Amino acid sequence: MSKQILILPGDGIGPEIVAEAVKVLMCLRAEYGLHLDIYEALVGGSAYDEHGHPLPEETLRLAHDCDAVLLGAVGGPQWEPLHISVRPEKGLLGLRSELGLFANLRPAILYPQLAAASTLKPEVVAGLDLLIVRELTGGIYFGRPRGVETLASGERQGINTLVYTESEIERICRVAFDLAGKRGNRVCSVDKANVLECTELWREVATRVGTDYPDVELSHMYVDNAAMQLVRAPKQFDVVVTTNMFGDILSDCAAQLTGSIGMLPSASLNAEEKGMYEPIHGSAPDIAGKGVANPLATILSVAMMLRYSLDEPTHAERIERAVSDVLDQGLRTADIAAAGTQTVGTAQMGDAVVSALRASAG
Ligand code: IPM
Ligand code: MG
Repeated sequence: MSKQILILPGDGIGPEIVAEAVKVLMCLRAEYGLHLDIYEALVGGSAYDEHGHPLPEETLRLAHDCDAVLLGAVGGPQWEPLHISVRPEKGLLGLRSELGLFANLRPAILYPQLAAASTLKPEVVAGLDLLIVRELTGGIYFGRPRGVETLASGERQGINTLVYTESEIERICRVAFDLAGKRGNRVCSVDKANVLECTELWREVATRVGTDYPDVELSHMYVDNAAMQLVRAPKQFDVVVTTNMFGDILSDCAAQLTGSIGMLPSASLNAEEKGMYEPIHGSAPDIAGKGVANPLATILSVAMMLRYSLDEPTHAERIERAVSDVLDQGLRTADIAAAGTQTVGTAQMGDAVVSALRASAG
């Protein structure tokens, strides 16, 4: 049966990078017989401009109906003055919440070809392969009460609430333990249990869940220390599980370890393993429309989609190999360029991946 994939290019560099990922999907369809139908819809600032809302009903309906969603990026300076309730980011948060995508998988893998692109010493990052499992539909991002209110004194006060139920903590920890069981057998749960009651509960639940996984070693770390350890000795981590906001921050930090945020894909999964897939970088308005953005994170997000939502691991490996091949050929977009490599644009990079895919089809 044909798989239904919804493409949401979004804003900024989104449309450029997503176009390259679509080329890759088309190549898999043409050369390797992958059955898929592609739909496209608006999200973020471009949806606001067209429909007055960053997550139009039609987009949400398609997202519910499709097997998987591929998203480029949302946001840009032109939409910053809008009220927070209709800003582009609300489109993304709405999709996460409406589809119940509570488990956000953010791998940080250092490609050996890019060891020199990291700002850290090669020996600190060589061979890095860690996975951040970020809770994505709860915590301070969604907690209530929230907002800005005016006190009796006339002064305004801003409020956000960090809240997690035991079941929310338990299900994200299970995802982390299950994944650790398939890789390095270690989970580090990151919290701020010394200060925040909510994450004291987080630690307690993580520990309880851990007893169901005797083969997986569980450790706990405060988030401030985790940020330091990530840049001091990142290879000590296998799977990191943490709250929505801590995961947001630590995953940017982990991304930089690999040299370029332009290389990292992500998956956001719900209980049925339906997923939304997106590069972890943003819409990069400064380079939008110039044809220089790195499409590899989006192309690698397609690989994650094939693995986690479409049950096509062989196609996923094909894409990952093709990406590695183009890096071996010395092709680099500007963000990962180095001496002795050839700098190419977005479309050239996408075409090179497609050629590598075709070459391996024989
Ligand atoms: C991310 C982004 C989003 C987040 C923004 C764009 C809402 O930073 O996916 O990490 O904060 O979750
Ligand atoms: Mg972020």
